[in-house]
Amino acid sequence: MPPFLNNVSDLSLLPEILKRRTFAIVSHPDAGKTTLTEKLLLFGGAIQEAGAVKSNKIKKHATSDFMEIERQRGISVATSVMAFDYKEKKINILDTPGHQDFAEDTYRTLTAVDSAIVVIDVAKGVEPQTEKLVEVCRMRKTPMIVFINKLDREGRDGFELLDEIEEKLGLHVCPLSWPIGMGQRFKGVYNLFEKQLNLFQPHGKQDEEEIIAIKDTNSELLVQHVGAAATKELRDDLEIVNTVYPDFDQQKYLDGNLSPVFFGSAINNFGVKELLDCFIQIAPPPKPRETEERTVRPDEDQFSGFVFKIHANMDPKHRDRIAFLRICSGKFERNTNYLHVRQGRTMKFSNPTAFMAAKKSIVDEAFPGDIVGLYDSGNFKIGDTLTGGENLHFKGIPSFSPEQFRYINNANPLKAKQLDKGIMQLTEEGVAQLFTKEDNARKIIGTVGALQFEVIQYRLEHEYGASCNYEPLSLHKACWITADKKEAINKLVKERKRDIAKDKDGHLVFLAESAWALKMAQENYPHVEFHFKSEF
Ligand code: G4P
Repeated sequence: MPPFLNNVSDLSLLPEILKRRTFAIVSHPDAGKTTLTEKLLLFGGAIQEAGAVKSNKIKKHATSDFMEIERQRGISVATSVMAFDYKEKKINILDTPGHQDFAEDTYRTLTAVDSAIVVIDVAKGVEPQTEKLVEVCRMRKTPMIVFINKLDREGRDGFELLDEIEEKLGLHVCPLSWPIGMGQRFKGVYNLFEKQLNLFQPHGKQDEEEIIAIKDTNSELLVQHVGAAATKELRDDLEIVNTVYPDFDQQKYLDGNLSPVFFGSAINNFGVKELLDCFIQIAPPPKPRETEERTVRPDEDQFSGFVFKIHANMDPKHRDRIAFLRICSGKFERNTNYLHVRQGRTMKFSNPTAFMAAKKSIVDEAFPGDIVGLYDSGNFKIGDTLTGGENLHFKGIPSFSPEQFRYINNANPLKAKQLDKGIMQLTEEGVAQLFTKEDNARKIIGTVGALQFEVIQYRLEHEYGASCNYEPLSLHKACWITADKKEAINKLVKERKRDIAKDKDGHLVFLAESAWALKMAQENYPHVEFHFKSEF
């Protein structure tokens, strides 16, 4: 039993908490996240046929047509959280948009999980999007398991990949399975966790994986099944594995300091069951979470949770939004009054929704680790806390420094109010970030992907009756600035007024034109801290 559950406040909650595993699968597009998700759902019986999740994936070729992407995103709301039962565990997979223009959505979703599985393509290795997402997990000390995918194809050497994972992702790894050949020569994996041989049969015939218990890899059984040459190769590899990599240590994994690695082929459903079986044994149940006021334990009898994502409906006939709430403690119940901490008033929800792989259903109750969707007419913004009455503010829902910037101008002077309201609401929803310059009060929109500029323009027009246009702005980064001594900040603000702005909550931000300008500012103002995310 996890140590923090030693003094349980509400015993009836305990079995529900211990059952839950809430996690996300992260990868660079095309590494196989959707395929792996689908296979996991098939194991859990949540879907009956392959393809059910795939059809909801945002298609790559639609990048130029944001309405099409939004339409697909609308469909994908249903699969935002996929819950299924497997071996007496209740598993919640939080889907993360693969499209990189929605990376900020993904970053925020990662604040709502207890662990993650990182998928890597055996041929491509560590790719840029994987690096960013793993960095977010690492910052939060989220335990990660790595799945190296597509072993049915020729790819890179296992050791070379592990080196790259350690170097580029900053993870300490320990292989829990090891491949025997790859591509045409792929014979299977040796599972170091269960001490068994898992034989590969190509062409998707993996319904009954052929598994042979081989406790000692010096056993002749190995030769009988994979032949002498492959056995020698495996034994040599395992000798290196045993010398170079640490033994698996669950506590280190739970602390985010050691990542087990599995090899397989998601499309062939190979290595997926062993990944899932290991996952439910080692992955953490919902953990205590920090608020500004105190640590909140999942087993407390008072309910609490926070909003990590808001999905707006683009259909003008149904202007509602869905706020996704992660439950952190106690039991959430339908039609019960809860405190909306920021607004200081109580609210109740008559049709909170749970998502079961493409099926939405109204839930009467939900437990720590669960995600419920709340229909919202504009009351929520990202990071909002709901509680049973206590004033709590959950920490750890950061904004990341955007990567693209444009000045936003009002194109219709008669609609200035509507424009301001629209921009405010859209930024609260997390579509983009807003900065206001200190020297001339001009407004700057910052986003992760170019697509959001179109989304904002379209939504301002259709939802708020306001119109805007953009002016290019070449900026490298917007960094939040703090200092122990006020004078340090004041000096920077005074001397560099044209590079200073405030974010929508009034926090000071330094606008760096280039990486060099940022470096110079860091050197010239050594007592000022420059932050790349808004929560520090
Ligand atoms: P993503 O969500 O991470 O973007 O990846 P996705 O699962 O959509 O997989 C990307 C491509 O890789 C898909 O091919 C998928 O079939 C393929 N794939 C996934 N796992 C494996 C594997 O273990 N081995 C091999 N050889 N391929 C794999 P696609 O051609 O883009 O799509 P489709 O036509 O197959 O649907």
